[in-house]
Amino acid sequence: MDVINKKRGIGLMKQYINEKFPHFLHGGDYNPEQWIDQKEIWDEDMRLMRLANCNEMSVGIFSWATLEPEEGKYDFSFLDEIIDKIYANGGRVVLATPSGARPRWMAEKYPEVLRVDDSLRRMHYGARHNHCYTSPVYREKVAEMNRRLAERYGKHPAVIAWHLSNEYSGKCYCPLCQQAFREFVKKRYDGDIHKLNTAWWTTFWSHAYTSFDQVEMPGPRSEKCVLGLNLDHKRFSSYQTVDFMKAEIAAIREFCPDLPVTTNMMPEHEDINYFEMAKELDVISWDSYPIWHSPTHARTTACAAFWHDTFRSMKQRPHMLMESVPGAVSWREYNKLKRPGMDRLSAIQTIAHGGDTVQYFQFRKGRGGYEKLHGAIVDHEGSENTRVFRAVAETGATLKAIDEICGTEVRARVAIVYDWENRWALELCKGFAVKDKQYSRTVYTYHAELWKRGIATDVVSAHSDLSKYDLVIAPMLYMTDSDTVARLEKFVAEGGTLYATYMLGMVDESDLCYLGGFPGGGLRRVFGIWNEEIDTFYPEDRLEITMDGKLYEGVDYAEYVHTEGASSLAELKNDFYGTSPALTVNEYGKGRAYYQTFRDRGDFFGAVCDKILGELNIHAPIATPLPELCTVHERNDGEIRYLFVENYSGKETEIALGDAWTDMESGETVDSVSLNKFDVRILKK
Ligand code: GLA
Ligand code: ZN
Repeated sequence: MDVINKKRGIGLMKQYINEKFPHFLHGGDYNPEQWIDQKEIWDEDMRLMRLANCNEMSVGIFSWATLEPEEGKYDFSFLDEIIDKIYANGGRVVLATPSGARPRWMAEKYPEVLRVDDSLRRMHYGARHNHCYTSPVYREKVAEMNRRLAERYGKHPAVIAWHLSNEYSGKCYCPLCQQAFREFVKKRYDGDIHKLNTAWWTTFWSHAYTSFDQVEMPGPRSEKCVLGLNLDHKRFSSYQTVDFMKAEIAAIREFCPDLPVTTNMMPEHEDINYFEMAKELDVISWDSYPIWHSPTHARTTACAAFWHDTFRSMKQRPHMLMESVPGAVSWREYNKLKRPGMDRLSAIQTIAHGGDTVQYFQFRKGRGGYEKLHGAIVDHEGSENTRVFRAVAETGATLKAIDEICGTEVRARVAIVYDWENRWALELCKGFAVKDKQYSRTVYTYHAELWKRGIATDVVSAHSDLSKYDLVIAPMLYMTDSDTVARLEKFVAEGGTLYATYMLGMVDESDLCYLGGFPGGGLRRVFGIWNEEIDTFYPEDRLEITMDGKLYEGVDYAEYVHTEGASSLAELKNDFYGTSPALTVNEYGKGRAYYQTFRDRGDFFGAVCDKILGELNIHAPIATPLPELCTVHERNDGEIRYLFVENYSGKETEIALGDAWTDMESGETVDSVSLNKFDVRILKK
């Protein structure tokens, strides 16, 4: 631990979401305005909040029509009352800006706030998350609302953070957005149309532009074959959403300079480059709805861990689980309830991966509307006597017992690259398996092998700082701009171990293919290989790979790679080129660069990573073997180690710890733990 401490220059330090309330938050979305005619419910909710061991409510998320029922006529009485009540009952408030859904009057009076779809049709009023991000009217209305909220509640002792809007998402194709897109593109290419034509390779099919005025967003009725245009449009939509969010923050900051701001992100969300969005936020939060107990339960479990790791890594500090479900959601094809233990286990998974809040959607079920059957802490039945309520209260009791962990760190020596721009470029690209290249899923597979082994892992973008890691894994990093190439090269030269795969380094930031052999831009030298060809297989096809006398199976992709200084560690058998390397390693500078030439299902990488981790002296927090679907994770403050022993399997199990630890809930000293199904134990040393 000392080594890492020194290496990373970290002392004993805790980082809280808000220092004024240095505790885990347990609570969630609360919509008292739906019960404004039955205020006795508000008092009952306060009693239930305490009983559920909750200490937080997220309010105001969709409250605009209550707060401003007519244009310019504001009424904050409901918020005044409920925020005071929550505080009087020991709770804290995460206060939302209501921009996620606008009132009807605004759409009627100012149609420009309504979004236009990609077929260039203006939408009518309805649903939510569907405003134009460019509209000056919408921006001003939101800013005015935010200023008033910040002025009124920014210093309220109950309010500890801002929840910006709700799940920002989507694109708008209105004339205002089209113009903003043109300006974005003009700036990107320095006002030089020749640069644009080169970057977008418009000589192909005679698509050359002669003026920036001709630039139009891609869509079913407009240009969609210029890949560079499509890519820049994705960049623009993400940029414009972040710009809108920055305007929300600026309005808040006029009256409230010090409260942290966050917005709830979504796993696998495509529209926004969250690594870019993260730069504008103080704290990262996300909404997690894993498909527990489904046929994909195992994958789901590791995937939830992946997203926790991603959101924690974005700011390198504790993140928030803004939403999760008590019971079951209502919007999936099948809506299965969380089994006993699962609420506590999934909550503690958050903590184990560095999160400091466990919040739900929602506190109380509404009587009507789209989400009336969605899980909630308080059911329509209304009392504390439900299975779900008891499960949430039990989770809250555990959080109280382990509260000292709040603010501590997860220290990772391994990072895995997941990059939005790369994802966009791969999705747009014609080639490989055209419809689904499975980028996200492939990254999950690599991460899952580390997760299983209890290896702390950060998730970073291709543009993140890599210098503090010992091992960086970069699956399918097809788009590697010159900056990324330079940093990867430096990382290896300075002693890092880089593990990359098929498709590495094929295009630059404009989606233009590198000339002179893949992996391009100079990576050919770093890896000591030349990737001559890539083969895409039918889903039924299987490949044979041998490593250390053992046989492995490959699927989907294999490259025909020549070594140019690298050594081959595994062989791939194919029907027309005989054998070629399946895995290579090259000594470069003080480091090593591995290259995997085919897609495996995890077991091959698992075997390789055992060796690499061993060589690098990277270990799980405990040395003993872990049963299937069980894992361990650690947080620490530089002095005390906190260990989470998690059982996601539907089986009871016993895990030896190899050492004595203190159970933080029972106070007992133990050197092994027996876990029920979906059980978790939190220990310290
Ligand atoms: C999302 C939204 C919430 C709610 C939940 C339901 O995450 O942010 O408002 O609709 O889904 O699962
Ligand atoms: Zn628009």
